Amino acid sequence: MRIDGPCKLNGELRVHGAKNSTLPLLAASLLCKTEVVLHNCPRLSDVETAVRILKTLGCRVKREEETLLIDSSSLQGGEIPETLMREMRSSIVFLGAIVSRLGKARLSFPGGCELGPRPIDLHLAALRRMGLQITEDHGCLDCTVPGRLTGCPISLSFPSVGATENVMLAAACAKGTTVLSNAAREPEIVDLADFLNACGAHVSGAGGSEIVIEGVPSLHGCEHRVIPDRIVAATYLAAAAASGGEVLLHDVECAHLRLVLPVFEEAGCSMKVMQNQLWLCAPERLRPVKCIRTLPYPGFPTDAQAPVMAMLCLADGASVFVENIFENRYKYTGELLRLGARIKVEGRVAVAEGVKSLSGASVQAPDLRGGAALVVAGLASEGTTLISGLHHLDRGYEGLEKAFSETGARIQREKITLEDRKEEKDAASTF
Ligand code: EPZ
Repeated sequence: MRIDGPCKLNGELRVHGAKNSTLPLLAASLLCKTEVVLHNCPRLSDVETAVRILKTLGCRVKREEETLLIDSSSLQGGEIPETLMREMRSSIVFLGAIVSRLGKARLSFPGGCELGPRPIDLHLAALRRMGLQITEDHGCLDCTVPGRLTGCPISLSFPSVGATENVMLAAACAKGTTVLSNAAREPEIVDLADFLNACGAHVSGAGGSEIVIEGVPSLHGCEHRVIPDRIVAATYLAAAAASGGEVLLHDVECAHLRLVLPVFEEAGCSMKVMQNQLWLCAPERLRPVKCIRTLPYPGFPTDAQAPVMAMLCLADGASVFVENIFENRYKYTGELLRLGARIKVEGRVAVAEGVKSLSGASVQAPDLRGGAALVVAGLASEGTTLISGLHHLDRGYEGLEKAFSETGARIQREKITLEDRKEEKDAASTF
């Protein structure tokens, strides 16, 4: 991706459906005996991977514009091939739904990912309590449950989003009631509960730390609209703020950004909040933000840490970040340094000393949100920024460069030839 900066973003942007809601909803559709219609599904590579998993299991899936139609009536296989498991870590969330429907499942360990080791111990411990027998051998999980899963009290040592979703999917049609304590409270959890209840499940308390799921014999399909992607919204706001622009976001759920908007306010942005629109105007120069701690919802989301850090690299002072959710979520800061940012990382703490300006350079996206941070910084940098590793971006952002070019950015994708790549490698190796 080539960005010729600096360029202010001015105009209107529509926020697409949430990746982190679409994925568990696709897993949930495995539980439904009749057709599921999911509206506002974003075109993302992670969503395509989830669709491929459904098809591998024998489901029929069709896309009509932003709508996915899923028919799981002919579900047969319980195995997710290693390639698909490795492609997307969060495929583990299919486990609960598969064993609930088929009584067995075989999938490979999802493996680590760019954010450091991503264990699944909380998922497995919870499902074992519900009666799932899991043997781990040669990197594979072999799972069976004699009869049906059994509902029971479960408490998570950490409010894991994925583990909460796995338990909800395993408990929806289990025998008896499951009381899940210390559950994740993210909006995506509420969206999943709404979907399951529309399909005939009995889920209550979603959005709080205790969720009660009374098992029902089976679920029918439903029609459901995926909530807007709050991280895409935060990324658009960071891009507008970093570039000194003014944007109006459409299809945004402002309530999902409760602890994100105060950060933009402290940075000096003016904002107007309407039900599903949000207006932001950047100040001449951004102010630093004293301390941003990432926390489970409703705290500041870890996924917004990178784009907001990129924006605050231009503030007139130092901002402090504390990353409490993932071990290794500052990899992208090394790439921001190449653009002239001044960032010091010590373990979970990072300090971004604001600089007056950034200057374009060639950089590599290390992961999804780190890639978004490089785009945010590239928009504000003087000169050309070349960003490679776009497959990371495509996992979570649909049509990013189209959205930004329609609001004033000089941004486009370029096919680079093997020679260019070799030159790039040689150039990088001389540093
Ligand atoms: C979900 O990941 C999101 N992904 C992540 O978004 C997001 O960053 C994360 O929640 C936190 O909000 C999807 O929803 C597909 P967790 P998930 O289980 O479920 C530890 C993005 O950029 N943990 O809440 O994997 C784990 O190591 C992605 O869109 C265990 O120790 O997150 C991490 O440190 C990145 N054992 C912490 O909990 C477990 O069994 C949070 O993980 C599970 C998790």
